Amino acid sequence: MGGEDYAVYMKGIVKRFPGVVANDHIDFKLGIGEIHALLGENGAGKTTLMNILYGLYSADSGEIYIYGKKVSIKTPKDAIKNGIGMVHQHFTLVPPFTVTENVILGYEGNKPVLNMAEARKRVSELIDRYGLGLDPDAKIWQLSVGEQQKVEILKILFREAKIIILDEPTAVLTPKETQSLFEFLRKMKAEGRSIIFISHKLHEVMEISDRITVLQKGRVVGTRNTKDTNEVELARMMVGREVIFTIKKEPSKALGRIIVEVRNLWVNSDRGLPAVKGVTFSIRKGEILGIAGVSGNGQRELAEALIGLRKVDKGNILIDGLDVTNKPPKDIVSLNVAYLPEDREELGYFKDESIRSNLCSKIRYSFLKKNFFLDFRMMNQYSDTLINEFDIITPSRFNLAKNLSGGNKQRLVLARELAIKPKFLIANQPTRGLDVGATEYIRKKLLEQRDDGVAILLISEDLDEVLMLSDRVMVFYEGEIMGIFKPEEVSLDDIGLMMAGVKRMEVSA
Ligand SMILES: Nc1ncnc2c1ncn2[C@@H]1O[C@H](COP(=O)(O)OP(=O)(O)O)[C@@H](O)[C@H]1O
Ligand SMILES: [Mg+2]
Repeated sequence: MGGEDYAVYMKGIVKRFPGVVANDHIDFKLGIGEIHALLGENGAGKTTLMNILYGLYSADSGEIYIYGKKVSIKTPKDAIKNGIGMVHQHFTLVPPFTVTENVILGYEGNKPVLNMAEARKRVSELIDRYGLGLDPDAKIWQLSVGEQQKVEILKILFREAKIIILDEPTAVLTPKETQSLFEFLRKMKAEGRSIIFISHKLHEVMEISDRITVLQKGRVVGTRNTKDTNEVELARMMVGREVIFTIKKEPSKALGRIIVEVRNLWVNSDRGLPAVKGVTFSIRKGEILGIAGVSGNGQRELAEALIGLRKVDKGNILIDGLDVTNKPPKDIVSLNVAYLPEDREELGYFKDESIRSNLCSKIRYSFLKKNFFLDFRMMNQYSDTLINEFDIITPSRFNLAKNLSGGNKQRLVLARELAIKPKFLIANQPTRGLDVGATEYIRKKLLEQRDDGVAILLISEDLDEVLMLSDRVMVFYEGEIMGIFKPEEVSLDDIGLMMAGVKRMEVSA
């Protein structure tokens, strides 16, 4: 029997994806008229659990009760019928349409015929009642991100949802917009609606929620009343675990002069808000500097600025003493800078070309030319050497790169990048999505490169990985460095606090 006193009771939810148990027997109860925060690091399983509740994924096993009644939610339509609404991390609005048009898009209410004038009137009423300050006739593209989010919420209110899921709603908001969202959540709560608020920011969760459930690696670590807990306990619940060192690392053999110097760097996000806020650090020859932190705290923008793919707003980047700030990527690459992008499916390689052309793509003109033509024998030799050295498993160098497995794709990109004998390597999420064997291989390669004297910037969501490989670690939070330290100098609790933006540590490193 299940939870008559609860708006939502999810019981024993299991959801597997290839290679990962995203939700591992999760029990979760949302009280009526409560704001319940779901807290956890990236990849903890928060979005998956909510997508199950909203009918976007089906669970492998488990049960869902809504107000005590067992339900079967197979599609978002089923969820909406059960009074559930969800604001996703990525909005689903249609830019050329107006606010009102977007709100009624796909609406299937009880009231059968809905004319535009009537809809507009109801939308206006909702806007007034909740003090949203939106113009019902404004086009979506004219609105700020914060306003667009309000439209998403309007959609849910229009459908009279009683249970509202917000997946990291504050990630795209300015602090001021966050405060106005919170006011609004309090209003909805006062009306008896029940709210699930997903976040990885401890101070927000402490401010807005009544209860908090912490997930870690697909499991519930615990649920607390907000007034009975504190940020230290929550941080420990979020990240506290035994670090598993699968690789023994010796001190670097090749530590040398400063290769990369970043001074007071400011970089904007796609939305034009500051994503990197005045960071200063350096990386030496033969050193791995790791960035720990929940994704979305400016790491990607930093990496893109370093390789010249994103404009630097203020500050400087020096590579081997040369100022490369706002230089085009080809100039930066020509200084022997290698880059493993976060999103290898989109940016990492040429999908529809052969493994051979991919491997040769970085050196084609300088090296593989005979008279005016490509020297195919040379290309074959070159790519076969790399295929061997990097254990790329493929029947032939002529196979299309897109047909490689995930681990082999990453080896391909790594082979291509390392073959230019880099001075500086930027590795963003180098082992994400790889199996254990491929992960171990990539990690060993990174250490090998370090010992060969490469300066490496390692960005990873996997805290264990960062601590395992890095000579020094810096923690990023909302575009700022919360601390730079040697991994053995600082406790996991403290790292958790820095990752959550609670604590700043000035350590000598
Ligand atoms: N559609 C999917 N296919 C494969 N794996 C997925 C999918 N969605 C999520 N995952 C994996 O499930 C785990 C949990 O992810 P997610 O629920 O998005 O975490 P969170 O929202 O807490 O960051 C991660 O390891 C993620 O890579
Ligand atoms: Mg998520």
